[in-house]
Amino acid sequence: MKKLLFSYLLICIAGNVQGQKFDQLAKTPPMGWNSWNKFGCNVSDSLIMSMADAMVSSGMKEAGFEYIVIDDCWQVARDENGEIVADKVCFPNGIKYLADYIHSKGLKFGIYSCAGSLTCEKRPGALGHEYQDARTYARWGVDYLKEDWCNTTTQDAKSSYTNMRDALFAAKRPIVLSICEWGSNKPWEWASPIGHLWRTTGDINDSWNSMIGIFEKQKDLARYAGPGHWNDPDMLEVGNGKMTLEEYKTHFTLWCMLAAPLMSGNDLRNMSNDYRMILTNKEVIALDQDTLGRQATCYRDNGDYQIWVKQLAGNEKAVCLLNKSDEKKTVQVDFNLLSQIRGMGRFGGQQLKLEDYRVRDLWEHKDLTMKESTVYMELIPHSVKVFRFIKK
Ligand code: GAL
Repeated sequence: MKKLLFSYLLICIAGNVQGQKFDQLAKTPPMGWNSWNKFGCNVSDSLIMSMADAMVSSGMKEAGFEYIVIDDCWQVARDENGEIVADKVCFPNGIKYLADYIHSKGLKFGIYSCAGSLTCEKRPGALGHEYQDARTYARWGVDYLKEDWCNTTTQDAKSSYTNMRDALFAAKRPIVLSICEWGSNKPWEWASPIGHLWRTTGDINDSWNSMIGIFEKQKDLARYAGPGHWNDPDMLEVGNGKMTLEEYKTHFTLWCMLAAPLMSGNDLRNMSNDYRMILTNKEVIALDQDTLGRQATCYRDNGDYQIWVKQLAGNEKAVCLLNKSDEKKTVQVDFNLLSQIRGMGRFGGQQLKLEDYRVRDLWEHKDLTMKESTVYMELIPHSVKVFRFIKK
């Protein structure tokens, strides 16, 4: 009996070694740049290398952005051994060369594949080649894999992504696994032991309605996020030109409140100073990167006007006021009351004593001088105000 139990334990342990994700990765939401939102299928090594250069020269790297990810369309075929083949015209030096270049800039390198037989752009997918591809990625020096969900016919999502997780683990190079099945199978319920982030919705586009619609869908997902396992409301559109500056500020702030992965998706090489200021606002990024890893919860929802709260490490807290409407709103804000809201909604969080904290406006970059704890504030259409309660 004892012997049996012992062998069972051994099997369990061995099973575990195989079935594991790399645990020490993405302790805070991954930050980087991805080619898809701006460039779609027009990817090449010169584009990606210049983006790595711009990541450094623009101050994005300094602000915390580190992954440079090539999305769909880098791959064209499989060779006679089943090895994935990169487009030789667009990537004449091969992918490892690109990875080395990105690493030489002190950045990390990400790549895209798909759990189905073909990617969304009909390039070869990973199905049936997971272990082979994982070994190839490890050899190339890949640090991040985005795994899509097109052309999966009757595949089971959990098993498919588990298979890729195990393949990556067997290849022995720590690689962040970004699950991109658009929330179709409620990945928040099962993906935490499998991937480091999972998309919760379909694709974002560069419009207020798309962005705010996706944001609304995150409301009930806060409890599923935490260090090493994040809800992913999709990549950023900041700087792609079709929203107003105010809307981009809102987009960026809300993503940081959600502890969302921050994958910029604009052309970093020629961004305006305004866009750069948004993407590199370190005080707002600090909310996203807070080590407690809590996603904000909605404290008050008056339809067009909402208050969101994010519990932070060290008993600090962020509060975001959101005006979704097309009208200017004047709201009465009671900081005493806000300090007492629990930052994790019905899952707890600390009540603070206002007198122990200073309240900082993270876009104005200054502390509020509060003569009284209740003030009137104006929120222009589609805007936010975000405050951090900082211990005195
Ligand atoms: C979609 C995915 C996008 C992008 C695109 C590439 O399924 O959600 O983010 O990767 O495929 O074809």
